[in-house]
Amino acid sequence: MKGVILAGGLATRLYPLTNATNKHLLPIYDKPMIWYPLQTMVKAGIDEVMVVVSGPYAGHFIRILKNGKEFGLKNLSYAYQENPKGGIADALILAEDFANNQPITVMLGDNTTDANISNAVNSFDDGAVVFLKEVPDPQRFGVPRFDKQDKSKIVEILEKPSNPPSNYAVTGLYIYDNKVFDYIKQCKPSDRGELEITDVNNFYIKNNKLRWSELDGYWLDAGTFDTLLAANVYWAKKKNPEVFTKLINKVTRH
Ligand code: G1P
Repeated sequence: MKGVILAGGLATRLYPLTNATNKHLLPIYDKPMIWYPLQTMVKAGIDEVMVVVSGPYAGHFIRILKNGKEFGLKNLSYAYQENPKGGIADALILAEDFANNQPITVMLGDNTTDANISNAVNSFDDGAVVFLKEVPDPQRFGVPRFDKQDKSKIVEILEKPSNPPSNYAVTGLYIYDNKVFDYIKQCKPSDRGELEITDVNNFYIKNNKLRWSELDGYWLDAGTFDTLLAANVYWAKKKNPEVFTKLINKVTRH
């Protein structure tokens, strides 16, 4: 399967950091953020990836990712989203020709996880799959409402609800069949002026074609100062536990 990483937007929540470069190139421990979703795809056997970029620092991606060979990719393509405020679905539609009527795995460039999604990718048939994770702050995310009788069914997804119907976040990892592009074309901008991926997922629900799977592992969206720090801490600890422990002991003594 091919993969698409969405790495556009202005990331105003991270100003002044994102006055210097694109959010997805900020460091998470020893690698630029986008390295993590790329590794998730490579681990799942995906070796053809399109990265959708936007904003003033789009050129910075080439310096980091080059032609993708270092990551084991057979093919790395780039697309440029004209309107950096257009939203996730507006960025995804740029991958229509790249997808070439085949299913695609999509990941947001600020999502990091150590979960292995190979099984879901390899067994994907049609419709859409969203990956859920239980979180303490669901109001920050797309949140599923489950069927009262049957939790395997999502009846609706709400984008950043003030009264979340469950404690799950719809993570920024999705698998779609080729209908995704028709659904995006039917979307209208939301109150925040974006084409929402949640609206696309709700089209699949209406057509009884959305399945979900719980992400088995650590997951974080590194889009705020606190979650960016948390992602740094998590990956530093995972990649270099001894140095991490020494460092934490040292800094917390003061
Ligand atoms: C986006 C999606 C939201 C999803 C989240 C995951 O939110 O709109 O449904 O739960 O990514 O990271 P945004 O980053 O645009 O606030």
